[in-house]
Amino acid sequence: MSHVSPYVRDLLDRMSLAEKAGQMTQVTIDLILEDDSNLVIDEKKLRQAVVERKVGSILNTRGHAYSVEKWHEIMTRIQTLATGETPNSIPVLYGIDSIHGATYTLDSTLFPHNISLGATRDRALVKKAAKITAMETRASGIRWNFDPVLDVARQPLWSRFEETFGEDTYLVGELGVSTIQGFEEDGLASPSAVASCMKHFLGYGDARSGKDRTPSYIPDTQLREIFLPPFIKAVETGTATVMINSGEVNGIPVHANPKLLTEMLRGELGFEGLAVTDWEDIIRLHTRHRVADTPKEAVRLAILAGVDMSMVPFDYDFTDYLIELVEEGAIPMSRIDEAVGRILSLKVDVGLFENPFPEEEATALFGREEYTEVALTGAIDSLILAKNENQLLPLAAGTKVLLAGPGAHSLPALHGSWSYTWQGNFPEHYPQNTLSIKQAMEAHLGADQVLCDSKADFTDPGNVDPSFLLSAADKADVIVLALGENSYAETPGNINDLDLDADQQALAKAAFATGKPVILVMVQGRPRVMREIEPQAGAIILAMRPGSQAGPAIASTLFGEANPSGRLSFSYPRHNNDHISYDHKLGETIQEPQPGHFEYTGYNPQWAFGHGLSYTTFAYDQLQLSSETLKEGESLILTVQVTNTGDRAGKHSVEVYSRDLFASITPSVRRLRGFEKIELQAGESRKVEFTFQPADFSFIDAHGKRIVEPGEFVLTVGALEVGFHYQA
Ligand code: BGC
Repeated sequence: MSHVSPYVRDLLDRMSLAEKAGQMTQVTIDLILEDDSNLVIDEKKLRQAVVERKVGSILNTRGHAYSVEKWHEIMTRIQTLATGETPNSIPVLYGIDSIHGATYTLDSTLFPHNISLGATRDRALVKKAAKITAMETRASGIRWNFDPVLDVARQPLWSRFEETFGEDTYLVGELGVSTIQGFEEDGLASPSAVASCMKHFLGYGDARSGKDRTPSYIPDTQLREIFLPPFIKAVETGTATVMINSGEVNGIPVHANPKLLTEMLRGELGFEGLAVTDWEDIIRLHTRHRVADTPKEAVRLAILAGVDMSMVPFDYDFTDYLIELVEEGAIPMSRIDEAVGRILSLKVDVGLFENPFPEEEATALFGREEYTEVALTGAIDSLILAKNENQLLPLAAGTKVLLAGPGAHSLPALHGSWSYTWQGNFPEHYPQNTLSIKQAMEAHLGADQVLCDSKADFTDPGNVDPSFLLSAADKADVIVLALGENSYAETPGNINDLDLDADQQALAKAAFATGKPVILVMVQGRPRVMREIEPQAGAIILAMRPGSQAGPAIASTLFGEANPSGRLSFSYPRHNNDHISYDHKLGETIQEPQPGHFEYTGYNPQWAFGHGLSYTTFAYDQLQLSSETLKEGESLILTVQVTNTGDRAGKHSVEVYSRDLFASITPSVRRLRGFEKIELQAGESRKVEFTFQPADFSFIDAHGKRIVEPGEFVLTVGALEVGFHYQA
């Protein structure tokens, strides 16, 4: 068994098998609410869950977010029973998805989704947002957060693309670390912290079909090169828990794979925290994946593979099967003690044994005014200016705007999934003061300067009907179209192709036909292909899912009070079926325009990873390396001078890419190895420094081992490059 404190050891010694199996059971809040209510606790059901079944954990909300007070009432009721009427007075660990803010608490501050935070390249900002998320979650009486998502977005069709930091493993890992620090760094017992949960281990998000939770086929080299590193960093940062990938990788459901869940996660990564399943994923080993011929066999497979807690979440069959399996000797007691030891240790760490009830000091940290500022900075810094022909943006004061499109007055489109409801699509649960783009523009410019007929419901047919646009265009100086996607989460967000909806493209074409300059603002969770309309747009802002301050951020960026600095964290496809990531192999780009004449020009996205313009310009020079050689045990320091060569202040992410010229596994044409977000006044210069170790240039070899091979490497910043030689 992993190391547990004497306190936990003693508790384990006193617990019955039924209590232990109960601790390993997590049920959804539905099981303690009255059948027809989202809010009212059914005392009988609560007693069944907590006292009779002795569940270790409860999760979720029913229907929508609750107020802080409601959460306190629920938590107090649960913990009163758990500590007052169970044999060993073990408090319940409540878990929740606080994905980009405290999703399920009314009036919490929602930040940009990770796909937008990835564009900011700002570790400090990501950490601040995570800390506020932790505080508002803990203020609700909840100490376990199912976040961060450390999946790497290699499949743009995937409906959870927006929950990721993008397609690059280094970027995902770095911002994942910042998130975990924000959640946990004050110490898990602190009223400002929550236990984090790295998820979804491992290989989610690269389904061959692009549909959520469908099978992936990932060679071991890629699994270790691309998908594993963020989890390694998360473990090193001290993440408390892990959630398992619902899907199957190479024909084996991850929930039933001891190689991944025990050998790799425990053995190689040395992770000692609690492993929870994803939603219903044990029974699905029987019903969906069909690797278990009975539901009971599914329990055996998952627990022996390394699962500690089952997010069952709708019944108690898991608990019963688990007890039977232990009694029959099919699961050893040592495995149960190991799992329960981890669960109890976490309960100790988050302070539940000291005080399981909502904490006053935590409640005081809810809803502080300064949180809005962080959400606003996050939203502004996440906006990607993809195109700005003839400096159409920023707009001059006094410009009269015709605003149209389904995203213009939609709050869900700005927020996406996990926004006061799972799907994010009920504006009535959003805080009263959240502004749509329309409302923010009206507040910014005065209502008479904005012509807009868009409806709050993204799907309203009127939002793509060009009549209003055509009738009002004459009165406006420019047309701003907010296009993209309504909110969605998980499998309900599956789509069959990436093309931007035809009716939205038709609306754009109608706008172009008016002859007015057209600015597109794309609010969406994944890149919708817009090749046909891009050429005629004067300017394009890829806003993605900027969260609660999206409206003000977009308004002030359009009018130049804010200067965009986002850089794409994924390759934006130009064609539906032509997606390769920026870190492709050279061979992925082969073209043969004439037979026998080869070109390597096949990385042809609409916009490349790292693309993003500004209202000012930045220049690099004096790129230098501390040495032309690097050896084991040494470091290399790279410096570059960055100058703001434009006439206004701006932020900028300075990025270093490496190229390994020759390697025993075909090398990527480039890999992101460092980034630093800086701010420079007009005319200001700064030297930016990056330190590298040999391990930064390592890769996974044919035997699954991480190695650094001797040879030549090139480091680039913008168009500048320097080389070095690595000697073993
Ligand atoms: C999602 C997880 C989430 C869980 C609990 C699942 O459907 O895949 O990411 O944490 O539900 O809400």
